[in-house]
Amino acid sequence: MIYPVSEDTLLLKKQVEQQDLEGEKALEIGTGNGLIAETMLEKGAKVTASDINKKALDQLPNQIKTVQSDLFESIEDEFDLICFNPPYLPEDEDKEFDGSETWIGGKQGTELTEKFLEEAPNYLRPGGQAFIVVSSLAEDRGLKKDFDLEVVAKEKHWFETLYVMRLSIE
Ligand SMILES: C[S@@+](CC[C@H](N)C(=O)[O-])C[C@H]1O[C@@H](n2cnc3c(N)ncnc32)[C@H](O)[C@@H]1O
Repeated sequence: MIYPVSEDTLLLKKQVEQQDLEGEKALEIGTGNGLIAETMLEKGAKVTASDINKKALDQLPNQIKTVQSDLFESIEDEFDLICFNPPYLPEDEDKEFDGSETWIGGKQGTELTEKFLEEAPNYLRPGGQAFIVVSSLAEDRGLKKDFDLEVVAKEKHWFETLYVMRLSIE
């Protein structure tokens, strides 16, 4: 299953649209439908898009470099901007669904996000930044207190509040 464009995608897209990416290098992890990577391209960036799901990569335009990768495992470059709208729901051991990799973020739901935040600084150029989407479901488990994150966008929905958080590198 390829994750469709959703409220979280659009919230992250608004942040990307506000960036001047002319001549910059940008990476989207977990590109899914590809809208964020395509927005980076429209903003002038040289874009790499990755996903654990190869099918998501096959549909992207030729100007976008694609890499099948589990988080940063097959990523070798450094970037000015990295975006990730991660799967963040907790695993349900009783149920298995087709496409669960698009929304299950580990046993607690936050493990994949935490691993991303630990590894992202190694792939950012000096002055670079990473944007991640965080749900109040994950934030309630203390994610923000464990990493130096700045909330740059917030949107309330009926069952959760969505945030875009920024991790910056000096
Ligand atoms: C919530 S969807 C986001 C899709 C799209 N970027 C968007 O904003 O609409 C999460 C994406 O992360 C991918 N994904 C899940 N686990 C991953 C991993 N370990 N490494 C890379 N991508 C992963 C999924 O296949 C899915 O495309």
